[in-house]
Amino acid sequence: MTLPPVLISEADIDARVQELGAEISADYADKDSIVLVGVLKGAFIFLADLSRRLTVPRTIEFIAVSSYGKGSRSTGAVRLDLDVRGNIENRHVLIVEDIVDTGHTLNYLIGILKSHRPASIRTATLLHKTEAAEVDVHIDYVGFGIGSEWVVGYGLDFAERDRTLPYIGIVQPGDG
Ligand code: PRP
Repeated sequence: MTLPPVLISEADIDARVQELGAEISADYADKDSIVLVGVLKGAFIFLADLSRRLTVPRTIEFIAVSSYGKGSRSTGAVRLDLDVRGNIENRHVLIVEDIVDTGHTLNYLIGILKSHRPASIRTATLLHKTEAAEVDVHIDYVGFGIGSEWVVGYGLDFAERDRTLPYIGIVQPGDG
């Protein structure tokens, strides 16, 4: 079995996550604490690494969503599978995503989390498919902008494969 070719190396991810951690810590330096909301499943590795690069006090929550029919994402239909368990009212929320593609998922998540009446909501994603946007959603922190290629690793999967690759790789035609 051949490994997917490297798009973003482990070292480059580590360096960028360190930079994001410093930027986010500086931006929230005057806050008592923040709550990181990781979006399952893909964000679990980015969340783990980013959270350990922060200096601002933080707690962790998870949320899970599914989008109907990956082949027909343009419908934008997103379903909530698991809401946050902790009370995030009046907290400063940072949504942590692995990738923003069409933007439908993040747009939906912002709506769900707003209903919990947090003090503020910002968004962070490791990867942003810059040409794939179907909805205009604001992203505060972006690790890397990428093209339209399908990517795996560092939390991202292709039919549940390659999630735990330590780097971001490109899915080859014929894979799967
Ligand atoms: C991915 C990713 C985002 C969403 C982005 O999740 O983690 O949540 O797709 O796509 P969008 O911008 O087009 O809405 P996925 O549905 O692959 O689930 P997973 O994280 O559980 O693998």
